[in-house]
Amino acid sequence: MFHTIETLPADPILGLNQTFQKDNNPEKINLSVGVYQNASGQTPIFSAVKKAEQQLIDGQMTKTYAPQAGDPAFLDHIARLLLSTPVVAQLGDRLATVMTPGGCGALRMGAELLVSTGFKGKVWVSNPTWANHFPLLQSAGLSLTTYRYYDANIRGVDFAAMLEDLQQIPEGDVVLLHGCCHNPTGADITPEQWDQVINVLAERKLVPFIDVAYQGFGQGLDEDAYGVRQAVAKLPEVLIANSCSKNFGLYRERTGAVMMLCESAKQTNAAKSHVMSAARRCYSMSPYHGGGIVGHLLSDDVLTVEWKTELNQVRERMQMLRQGLAEGLNQAQSKMNFDFVARSNGMFCYLGIPRDDVLTLRSDFAIYLLESTRINIAGLSEDNLPVIVERVSEVLTR
Ligand SMILES: Cc1ncc(COP(=O)(O)O)c(C=O)c1O
Repeated sequence: MFHTIETLPADPILGLNQTFQKDNNPEKINLSVGVYQNASGQTPIFSAVKKAEQQLIDGQMTKTYAPQAGDPAFLDHIARLLLSTPVVAQLGDRLATVMTPGGCGALRMGAELLVSTGFKGKVWVSNPTWANHFPLLQSAGLSLTTYRYYDANIRGVDFAAMLEDLQQIPEGDVVLLHGCCHNPTGADITPEQWDQVINVLAERKLVPFIDVAYQGFGQGLDEDAYGVRQAVAKLPEVLIANSCSKNFGLYRERTGAVMMLCESAKQTNAAKSHVMSAARRCYSMSPYHGGGIVGHLLSDDVLTVEWKTELNQVRERMQMLRQGLAEGLNQAQSKMNFDFVARSNGMFCYLGIPRDDVLTLRSDFAIYLLESTRINIAGLSEDNLPVIVERVSEVLTR
């Protein structure tokens, strides 16, 4: 059976990480990873999350199966955290939430739902988008194509081009949008631009599939949810893939949720039954532990305040590092203006330096970033920032 099987090439991001691990240079710096890191280069457990986990374990009397849709406290709280309590109340039974293995599981379940409706149109994704959107959605049977989004010349969103492309999309197609903290570019649309996008979606009868993997990492929990809240308030049908990996630091626990909004409660119920059926045939039900933690944490006012404070600190630290990198690079060289680094949101941005310079940084200084020039802002620290500024400026002005 397996005599002829060939090993697949490594995932480009994971492959680069392996090369980094093997690099013996003691001064090596990894800006390519996709997780939050603190000043000591660790991905810490939020203290409120640790407490919620302990309390959950202490109170747990059984490991029997949880409800197939997921922990009820998690489902209730995660929808209200993302969409707000009044909006969730207003949507009532038109909204359903199902717990999934991370944001990837949510994206996949959303894709399975689309396929099960007999959807034959296209899913439009931003150019560029998170690389994993393609295999996750295409392997479910969906066909993907791109709309214009990031313009390397202006180092930001070419909103006119984006809108123009959205206006050409055939009625009934699906548009995948990043709820906030666009990965890989860090370039988000403004609230006013969200309003315009939602108007076009309504006019063209397009269905948004909103991927929210970084709520709280951009401008704040509520600010980052502006687009998704407006979409569910204004549009008849919306799909949402939500992840708790980053904002609760629960990466390995695989915690997320797919949310579906349909025109009527009857349709929502039917859509949910298809998601549950897809889950059943793939993995039966989502792992419980992470959702149990989040449900417990958000049910407790004291833990919720503590978690929000910690999340604010994470966000402020990333903003400080962005600012530091932009100012440092602007002062150290005059070839390129890096103001856009300070303007971008969340964990990532494109540094926008020539590809050759990316390779030189790797070969000469053991500074690792993706060839797309995407960097993880959380890979910066107070210690390595001056070194990075010096090295990047040096290769740029060589
Ligand atoms: C844009 C985007 N969507 C979804 C995810 C899914 O994350 P996870 O499955 O780890 O929750 C990620 C993670 O990096 C992401 O960047």
